[in-house]
Amino acid sequence: MKTQVGIIGGGPSGLLLSQLLHLQGIDTVVLERRSRDYVLGRIRAGVLEHGFADLMREAQCGERMDAEGEIHDGIFIAHDGIKERVDFKNLVGDSVVVYGQTELTRDLYEARDRMDGHVLHSVEDVKPHDMTTDAPYLTYREGDEVKRIDCDYIIGADGFHGVSRKSIPKENIREFERVYPFGWLGVLSETMPVSPELIYAKHERGFALCSMRSQVLSRYYIQVSLEDTVEDWPDDRFWQELKNRLPEDVAESLITGPSIEKSIAPLRSFVAEPMRYGNMFLAGDAAHIVPPTGARGLNSAASDIYYLYHAMLDHYKKGDDTGLDTYSQKALARVWKGQRFSWWMTMLLHRFPENSDFDNQLQQTELEYLFSSDKALASLAENYVGLPF
Ligand code: APR
Ligand code: PHB
Repeated sequence: MKTQVGIIGGGPSGLLLSQLLHLQGIDTVVLERRSRDYVLGRIRAGVLEHGFADLMREAQCGERMDAEGEIHDGIFIAHDGIKERVDFKNLVGDSVVVYGQTELTRDLYEARDRMDGHVLHSVEDVKPHDMTTDAPYLTYREGDEVKRIDCDYIIGADGFHGVSRKSIPKENIREFERVYPFGWLGVLSETMPVSPELIYAKHERGFALCSMRSQVLSRYYIQVSLEDTVEDWPDDRFWQELKNRLPEDVAESLITGPSIEKSIAPLRSFVAEPMRYGNMFLAGDAAHIVPPTGARGLNSAASDIYYLYHAMLDHYKKGDDTGLDTYSQKALARVWKGQRFSWWMTMLLHRFPENSDFDNQLQQTELEYLFSSDKALASLAENYVGLPF
Protein backbone atom coordinates (compact mmCIF):
# COMPACT_ATOMS: atom_id res chain seq x y z
CA MET A 1 0.00 0.00 0.00
CA LYS A 2 1.06 3.60 -0.60
CA THR A 3 -0.04 6.86 1.00
CA GLN A 4 1.24 10.39 1.41
CA VAL A 5 1.10 10.64 5.21
CA GLY A 6 1.22 7.48 7.34
CA ILE A 7 -0.13 8.13 10.82
CA ILE A 8 0.60 5.88 13.82
CA GLY A 9 -2.15 6.18 16.45
CA GLY A 10 -5.90 6.74 16.18
CA GLY A 11 -6.35 9.03 19.18
CA PRO A 12 -7.52 12.64 18.82
CA SER A 13 -4.16 13.80 17.36
CA GLY A 14 -3.93 11.20 14.60
CA LEU A 15 -7.61 11.34 13.65
CA LEU A 16 -7.80 15.13 13.54
CA LEU A 17 -4.73 15.41 11.32
CA SER A 18 -6.02 12.66 9.04
CA GLN A 19 -9.38 14.40 8.70
CA LEU A 20 -7.91 17.87 8.06
CA LEU A 21 -5.48 16.57 5.42
CA HIS A 22 -8.16 14.46 3.72
CA LEU A 23 -10.33 17.57 3.26
CA GLN A 24 -7.40 19.16 1.40
CA GLY A 25 -6.98 16.15 -0.88
CA ILE A 26 -3.94 14.76 0.93
CA ASP A 27 -4.02 11.00 1.40
CA THR A 28 -3.47 9.45 4.84
CA VAL A 29 -3.63 6.06 6.52
CA VAL A 30 -4.13 5.75 10.29
CA LEU A 31 -2.84 2.63 12.07
CA GLU A 32 -4.38 2.07 15.51
CA ARG A 33 -3.29 -0.77 17.78
CA ARG A 34 -6.58 -1.01 19.68
CA SER A 35 -10.19 -1.64 18.65
CA ARG A 36 -12.46 1.34 18.21
CA ASP A 37 -14.53 0.32 21.24
CA TYR A 38 -11.40 0.26 23.37
CA VAL A 39 -10.33 3.74 22.24
CA LEU A 40 -13.84 5.08 22.89
CA GLY A 41 -13.94 3.41 26.31
CA ARG A 42 -11.10 5.55 27.65
CA ILE A 43 -12.25 8.38 29.92
CA ARG A 44 -10.15 11.49 29.44
CA ALA A 45 -10.49 15.21 30.12
CA GLY A 46 -12.87 17.51 28.29
CA VAL A 47 -11.95 21.19 28.24
CA LEU A 48 -11.32 22.61 24.76
CA GLU A 49 -9.63 25.92 24.00
CA HIS A 50 -11.58 27.96 21.51
CA GLY A 51 -8.71 27.59 18.97
CA PHE A 52 -9.14 23.82 19.21
CA ALA A 53 -12.90 24.15 18.80
CA ASP A 54 -12.24 26.17 15.62
CA LEU A 55 -9.96 23.42 14.31
CA MET A 56 -12.72 20.85 14.91
CA ARG A 57 -15.09 23.04 12.89
CA GLU A 58 -12.51 23.38 10.10
CA ALA A 59 -12.30 19.57 10.12
CA GLN A 60 -16.12 19.51 9.64
CA CYS A 61 -16.44 17.80 13.03
CA GLY A 62 -17.85 20.64 15.10
CA GLU A 63 -21.58 20.11 14.74
CA ARG A 64 -22.24 17.96 17.82
CA MET A 65 -19.63 19.84 19.84
CA ASP A 66 -21.45 23.10 19.07
CA ALA A 67 -24.85 21.60 19.89
CA GLU A 68 -23.95 19.65 23.04
CA GLY A 69 -20.74 21.22 24.36
CA GLU A 70 -21.07 23.90 27.02
CA ILE A 71 -19.37 27.28 26.81
CA HIS A 72 -17.70 28.09 30.14
CA ASP A 73 -16.73 31.69 30.84
CA GLY A 74 -14.85 30.92 34.05
CA ILE A 75 -13.79 28.48 36.76
CA PHE A 76 -13.86 28.52 40.55
CA ILE A 77 -10.89 28.04 42.81
CA ALA A 78 -11.87 26.89 46.30
CA HIS A 79 -9.56 27.39 49.25
CA ASP A 80 -9.82 28.09 52.99
CA GLY A 81 -13.55 27.32 53.06
CA ILE A 82 -14.55 29.71 50.26
CA LYS A 83 -14.70 29.63 46.48
CA GLU A 84 -13.55 32.46 44.25
CA ARG A 85 -14.32 32.86 40.56
CA VAL A 86 -11.82 33.39 37.77
CA ASP A 87 -13.87 35.23 35.15
CA PHE A 88 -12.21 34.44 31.81
CA LYS A 89 -14.66 36.53 29.83
CA ASN A 90 -14.01 39.67 31.85
CA LEU A 91 -10.29 39.12 32.27
CA VAL A 92 -9.30 38.13 28.73
CA GLY A 93 -12.52 38.18 26.69
CA ASP A 94 -12.46 34.47 25.93
CA SER A 95 -13.97 31.17 27.08
CA VAL A 96 -13.56 27.38 26.77
CA VAL A 97 -15.85 24.61 25.51
CA VAL A 98 -16.55 21.71 27.88
CA TYR A 99 -16.96 18.63 25.67
CA GLY A 100 -15.60 15.19 26.57
CA GLN A 101 -12.61 13.79 24.70
CA THR A 102 -14.52 10.54 24.22
CA GLU A 103 -17.29 12.35 22.33
CA LEU A 104 -14.79 14.37 20.33
CA THR A 105 -12.96 11.18 19.32
CA ARG A 106 -16.30 9.58 18.34
CA ASP A 107 -17.06 12.59 16.11
CA LEU A 108 -13.66 12.28 14.44
CA TYR A 109 -14.19 8.55 13.78
CA GLU A 110 -17.62 9.23 12.31
CA ALA A 111 -16.21 11.93 10.04
CA ARG A 112 -13.46 9.56 8.86
CA ASP A 113 -16.12 6.90 8.16
CA ARG A 114 -18.26 9.34 6.17
CA MET A 115 -15.32 10.12 3.91
CA ASP A 116 -14.14 6.52 3.61
CA GLY A 117 -10.92 7.45 5.38
CA HIS A 118 -8.39 4.68 5.92
CA VAL A 119 -8.34 3.97 9.65
CA LEU A 120 -7.11 0.46 10.41
CA HIS A 121 -7.85 -0.89 13.88
CA SER A 122 -6.36 -3.70 15.95
CA VAL A 123 -3.17 -3.77 13.88
CA GLU A 124 -0.18 -5.28 15.65
CA ASP A 125 3.55 -4.59 15.65
CA VAL A 126 3.39 -1.23 13.91
CA LYS A 127 6.93 -0.05 13.13
CA PRO A 128 8.34 3.00 11.35
CA HIS A 129 11.33 2.35 9.03
CA ASP A 130 13.92 4.39 7.12
CA MET A 131 12.74 7.63 8.72
CA THR A 132 15.92 9.47 7.74
CA THR A 133 15.54 8.64 4.03
CA ASP A 134 13.20 10.04 1.35
CA ALA A 135 11.34 6.74 1.31
CA PRO A 136 10.15 6.00 4.85
CA TYR A 137 7.64 3.20 5.34
CA LEU A 138 5.52 1.54 7.99
CA THR A 139 5.02 -2.14 8.64
CA TYR A 140 2.32 -3.83 10.69
CA ARG A 141 1.01 -7.32 11.21
CA GLU A 142 -2.48 -8.58 10.49
CA GLY A 143 -2.67 -12.15 11.74
CA ASP A 144 0.43 -13.88 10.30
CA GLU A 145 0.83 -11.44 7.47
CA VAL A 146 3.28 -8.51 7.63
CA LYS A 147 2.07 -5.56 5.56
CA ARG A 148 3.91 -2.49 4.33
CA ILE A 149 2.81 1.09 3.69
CA ASP A 150 5.16 3.39 1.78
CA CYS A 151 4.75 7.08 2.57
CA ASP A 152 6.26 10.53 2.14
CA TYR A 153 6.02 11.26 5.86
CA ILE A 154 5.29 9.37 9.07
CA ILE A 155 3.41 10.96 11.96
CA GLY A 156 3.98 9.52 15.43
CA ALA A 157 0.65 10.27 17.14
CA ASP A 158 0.66 7.10 19.21
CA GLY A 159 0.56 8.52 22.73
CA PHE A 160 3.07 8.35 25.55
CA HIS A 161 3.55 4.55 25.37
CA GLY A 162 3.67 4.39 21.57
CA VAL A 163 6.37 3.01 19.31
CA SER A 164 7.33 6.19 17.39
CA ARG A 165 9.32 8.05 20.02
CA LYS A 166 10.94 4.80 21.13
CA SER A 167 12.13 4.18 17.54
CA ILE A 168 14.32 7.29 17.61
CA PRO A 169 17.95 6.53 18.55
CA LYS A 170 18.71 7.74 22.08
CA GLU A 171 21.39 10.16 20.89
CA ASN A 172 18.86 11.94 18.65
CA ILE A 173 16.31 12.78 21.31
CA ARG A 174 16.41 14.51 24.67
CA GLU A 175 13.79 13.86 27.34
CA PHE A 176 12.74 16.17 30.19
CA GLU A 177 10.62 14.76 32.98
CA ARG A 178 9.10 15.43 36.38
CA VAL A 179 7.07 12.81 38.22
CA TYR A 180 4.80 14.16 40.97
CA PRO A 181 4.51 12.34 44.31
CA PHE A 182 0.74 11.67 44.05
CA GLY A 183 -2.01 10.64 41.64
CA TRP A 184 -5.61 11.59 40.84
CA LEU A 185 -8.47 9.26 41.63
CA GLY A 186 -11.25 10.01 39.12
CA VAL A 187 -14.92 9.06 39.40
CA LEU A 188 -17.61 9.36 36.75
CA SER A 189 -21.21 9.34 38.02
CA GLU A 190 -24.62 9.83 36.48
CA THR A 191 -25.47 12.74 38.73
CA MET A 192 -26.07 16.43 38.22
CA PRO A 193 -22.80 18.40 38.53
CA VAL A 194 -22.43 20.23 41.84
CA SER A 195 -21.55 23.48 40.07
CA PRO A 196 -22.27 24.92 36.61
CA GLU A 197 -18.53 25.71 36.30
CA LEU A 198 -15.48 23.64 37.27
CA ILE A 199 -14.25 23.93 40.87
CA TYR A 200 -10.53 23.41 41.52
CA ALA A 201 -10.09 22.98 45.29
CA LYS A 202 -6.95 23.36 47.39
CA HIS A 203 -7.25 21.76 50.81
CA GLU A 204 -4.81 20.61 53.48
CA ARG A 205 -6.09 17.04 52.95
CA GLY A 206 -5.21 17.35 49.25
CA PHE A 207 -6.50 18.71 45.94
CA ALA A 208 -9.99 18.04 44.56
CA LEU A 209 -11.70 18.88 41.26
CA CYS A 210 -15.41 19.02 40.39
CA SER A 211 -15.89 18.70 36.63
CA MET A 212 -18.58 17.42 34.31
CA ARG A 213 -19.43 15.91 30.96
CA SER A 214 -23.06 17.08 30.78
CA GLN A 215 -25.90 18.14 33.05
CA VAL A 216 -26.48 14.49 33.97
CA LEU A 217 -22.89 13.26 34.06
CA SER A 218 -20.32 14.45 36.61
CA ARG A 219 -16.59 13.89 36.77
CA TYR A 220 -14.85 14.31 40.13
CA TYR A 221 -11.23 13.85 41.18
CA ILE A 222 -9.28 13.78 44.43
CA GLN A 223 -5.53 13.74 44.96
CA VAL A 224 -4.44 10.37 46.39
CA SER A 225 -1.21 8.67 47.37
CA LEU A 226 0.65 6.75 44.66
CA GLU A 227 0.38 3.60 46.78
CA ASP A 228 -3.44 3.73 46.74
CA THR A 229 -5.49 1.44 44.52
CA VAL A 230 -9.06 1.78 43.28
CA GLU A 231 -10.03 -1.00 45.74
CA ASP A 232 -8.94 1.28 48.60
CA TRP A 233 -11.62 3.75 47.54
CA PRO A 234 -15.16 2.35 47.65
CA ASP A 235 -17.74 4.96 46.55
CA ASP A 236 -18.74 5.99 50.09
CA ARG A 237 -15.17 6.72 51.08
CA PHE A 238 -14.60 8.69 47.87
CA TRP A 239 -17.69 10.90 48.31
CA GLN A 240 -16.88 11.57 51.95
CA GLU A 241 -13.30 12.55 51.15
CA LEU A 242 -14.41 14.77 48.27
CA LYS A 243 -16.84 16.56 50.62
CA ASN A 244 -14.07 16.98 53.22
CA ARG A 245 -12.03 18.95 50.69
CA LEU A 246 -14.80 21.27 49.42
CA PRO A 247 -16.25 24.40 51.05
CA GLU A 248 -19.19 23.49 53.30
CA ASP A 249 -21.94 24.94 51.08
CA VAL A 250 -20.59 23.06 48.05
CA ALA A 251 -20.25 19.80 50.00
CA GLU A 252 -23.84 20.13 51.23
CA SER A 253 -25.25 20.47 47.73
CA LEU A 254 -23.17 17.64 46.23
CA ILE A 255 -25.38 14.92 44.76
CA THR A 256 -23.72 11.52 45.07
CA GLY A 257 -24.50 8.27 43.28
CA PRO A 258 -22.87 5.03 42.17
CA SER A 259 -19.62 5.47 40.22
CA ILE A 260 -19.77 4.20 36.64
CA GLU A 261 -15.99 4.53 36.19
CA LYS A 262 -13.18 4.86 38.69
CA SER A 263 -9.46 5.00 37.99
CA ILE A 264 -6.19 6.36 39.36
CA ALA A 265 -3.74 8.24 37.14
CA PRO A 266 -0.23 9.29 38.16
CA LEU A 267 0.81 12.89 37.41
CA ARG A 268 3.75 13.54 35.16
CA SER A 269 5.34 16.36 33.16
CA PHE A 270 7.31 15.14 30.13
CA VAL A 271 8.75 16.64 26.93
CA ALA A 272 10.82 14.98 24.19
CA GLU A 273 12.92 17.18 21.90
CA PRO A 274 13.08 17.60 18.97
CA MET A 275 9.66 16.54 17.73
CA ARG A 276 11.12 15.42 14.42
CA TYR A 277 13.42 12.61 13.36
CA GLY A 278 14.13 12.70 9.62
CA ASN A 279 10.77 12.40 7.92
CA MET A 280 8.93 11.31 11.06
CA PHE A 281 7.12 13.97 13.12
CA LEU A 282 5.88 13.43 16.68
CA ALA A 283 2.58 14.96 17.82
CA GLY A 284 0.50 15.01 21.01
CA ASP A 285 1.13 12.66 23.92
CA ALA A 286 3.83 10.85 21.92
CA ALA A 287 6.05 13.90 22.53
CA HIS A 288 4.72 15.49 25.69
CA ILE A 289 2.61 14.85 28.78
CA VAL A 290 1.26 17.31 31.34
CA PRO A 291 -0.37 16.81 34.73
CA PRO A 292 -4.12 17.33 34.17
CA THR A 293 -4.44 20.32 36.51
CA GLY A 294 -4.44 23.01 33.82
CA ALA A 295 -6.52 21.03 31.28
CA ARG A 296 -3.72 21.38 28.71
CA GLY A 297 -3.17 17.75 27.53
CA LEU A 298 -5.63 17.59 24.67
CA ASN A 299 -5.09 21.26 23.83
CA SER A 300 -1.32 20.87 23.51
CA ALA A 301 -1.95 17.99 21.14
CA ALA A 302 -4.29 20.21 19.11
CA SER A 303 -1.70 22.93 18.64
CA ASP A 304 0.83 20.36 17.33
CA ILE A 305 -1.78 19.26 14.81
CA TYR A 306 -2.44 22.86 13.80
CA TYR A 307 1.24 23.44 13.02
CA LEU A 308 1.67 20.08 11.28
CA TYR A 309 -1.46 20.53 9.20
CA HIS A 310 -0.33 23.92 7.92
CA ALA A 311 3.22 22.66 7.34
CA MET A 312 1.87 19.75 5.26
CA LEU A 313 -0.41 22.08 3.28
CA ASP A 314 2.54 24.37 2.46
CA HIS A 315 4.58 21.37 1.38
CA TYR A 316 1.96 19.72 -0.83
CA LYS A 317 0.24 22.84 -2.20
CA LYS A 318 3.13 25.31 -2.50
CA GLY A 319 6.26 23.19 -2.40
CA ASP A 320 7.34 25.21 0.63
CA ASP A 321 9.03 23.19 3.39
CA THR A 322 9.60 26.03 5.86
CA GLY A 323 6.68 24.86 8.03
CA LEU A 324 8.02 21.30 8.19
CA ASP A 325 11.53 22.52 8.94
CA THR A 326 10.36 24.78 11.76
CA TYR A 327 7.62 22.46 13.09
CA SER A 328 9.55 21.14 16.06
CA GLN A 329 10.74 24.57 17.14
CA LYS A 330 7.30 26.19 16.81
CA ALA A 331 5.40 23.33 18.44
CA LEU A 332 7.85 23.10 21.33
CA ALA A 333 7.68 26.83 22.07
CA ARG A 334 3.97 26.43 22.76
CA VAL A 335 4.30 23.02 24.39
CA TRP A 336 6.71 24.43 26.99
CA LYS A 337 4.28 27.25 27.82
CA GLY A 338 1.60 24.62 28.41
CA GLN A 339 4.09 22.70 30.56
CA ARG A 340 4.83 25.80 32.61
CA PHE A 341 1.16 26.52 33.20
CA SER A 342 0.28 22.91 34.10
CA TRP A 343 3.24 22.73 36.50
CA TRP A 344 2.23 26.06 38.07
CA MET A 345 -1.42 25.05 38.59
CA THR A 346 -0.26 21.72 40.02
CA MET A 347 2.18 23.38 42.44
CA LEU A 348 -0.44 25.96 43.45
CA LEU A 349 -3.23 23.56 44.37
CA HIS A 350 -1.84 20.22 45.58
CA ARG A 351 -0.55 19.09 48.93
CA PHE A 352 3.09 18.09 48.55
CA PRO A 353 3.99 15.55 51.25
CA GLU A 354 7.64 16.66 51.26
CA ASN A 355 6.91 20.40 51.56
CA SER A 356 8.49 22.38 54.39
CA ASP A 357 6.50 24.98 56.34
CA PHE A 358 8.26 27.60 54.23
CA ASP A 359 7.11 25.94 50.99
CA ASN A 360 3.52 25.75 52.29
CA GLN A 361 3.57 29.39 53.30
CA LEU A 362 4.78 30.41 49.83
CA GLN A 363 2.05 28.31 48.23
CA GLN A 364 -0.58 30.06 50.35
CA THR A 365 0.91 33.46 49.49
CA GLU A 366 0.84 32.62 45.77
CA LEU A 367 -2.91 32.01 46.09
CA GLU A 368 -3.49 35.21 48.08
CA TYR A 369 -1.50 37.17 45.52
CA LEU A 370 -3.53 35.63 42.68
CA PHE A 371 -6.84 36.79 44.11
CA SER A 372 -5.47 40.22 45.03
CA SER A 373 -4.29 41.06 41.51
CA ASP A 374 -6.35 41.20 38.34
CA LYS A 375 -3.11 41.02 36.39
CA ALA A 376 -2.18 37.71 38.04
CA LEU A 377 -5.72 36.40 37.44
CA ALA A 378 -5.55 37.52 33.81
CA SER A 379 -2.36 35.49 33.38
CA LEU A 380 -4.16 32.39 34.68
CA ALA A 381 -7.15 33.11 32.42
CA GLU A 382 -4.99 33.74 29.33
CA ASN A 383 -3.23 30.40 29.74
CA TYR A 384 -6.38 28.43 30.60
CA VAL A 385 -8.36 29.61 27.57
CA GLY A 386 -5.29 28.96 25.42
CA LEU A 387 -2.39 31.02 24.13
CA PRO A 388 -2.56 31.84 20.42
CA PHE A 389 -1.22 29.18 18.00
N1 APR B 1 0.75 1.29 17.21
C1 APR B 1 -0.44 1.85 16.86
N2 APR B 1 -1.17 2.62 17.68
C2 APR B 1 -0.69 2.84 18.91
C3 APR B 1 0.54 2.30 19.34
C4 APR B 1 1.27 1.48 18.44
N3 APR B 1 2.42 0.94 18.79
N4 APR B 1 0.77 2.70 20.61
C5 APR B 1 -0.28 3.45 20.96
N5 APR B 1 -1.17 3.54 19.95
C6 APR B 1 -2.45 4.26 19.93
C7 APR B 1 -3.19 4.21 21.25
O1 APR B 1 -3.96 3.02 21.37
C8 APR B 1 -4.05 5.46 21.19
O2 APR B 1 -5.33 5.21 20.65
O3 APR B 1 -2.21 5.63 19.73
C9 APR B 1 -3.30 6.39 20.25
C10 APR B 1 -2.75 7.61 20.96
O4 APR B 1 -3.83 8.36 21.46
P1 APR B 1 -3.73 9.26 22.79
O5 APR B 1 -2.97 8.54 23.83
O6 APR B 1 -5.09 9.71 23.08
O7 APR B 1 -2.79 10.49 22.34
P2 APR B 1 -3.13 11.75 21.41
O8 APR B 1 -3.95 11.36 20.23
O9 APR B 1 -1.85 12.46 21.21
O10 APR B 1 -4.10 12.63 22.29
C11 APR B 1 -3.68 13.48 23.27
O11 APR B 1 -5.18 12.43 24.73
O12 APR B 1 -4.09 11.18 26.29
C12 APR B 1 -4.81 12.31 26.11
O13 APR B 1 -3.99 13.86 27.73
C13 APR B 1 -3.98 13.47 26.41
O14 APR B 1 -5.83 14.66 26.09
C14 APR B 1 -4.60 14.38 25.49
C15 APR B 1 -4.81 13.65 24.24
C1 PHB C 1 -12.10 16.53 33.37
O1 PHB C 1 -13.26 16.93 33.21
O2 PHB C 1 -11.83 15.32 33.30
C2 PHB C 1 -11.03 17.51 33.67
C3 PHB C 1 -11.30 18.86 33.59
C4 PHB C 1 -10.31 19.78 33.89
C5 PHB C 1 -9.06 19.35 34.26
C6 PHB C 1 -8.76 17.99 34.32
C7 PHB C 1 -9.77 17.06 34.02
O3 PHB C 1 -8.10 20.26 34.58
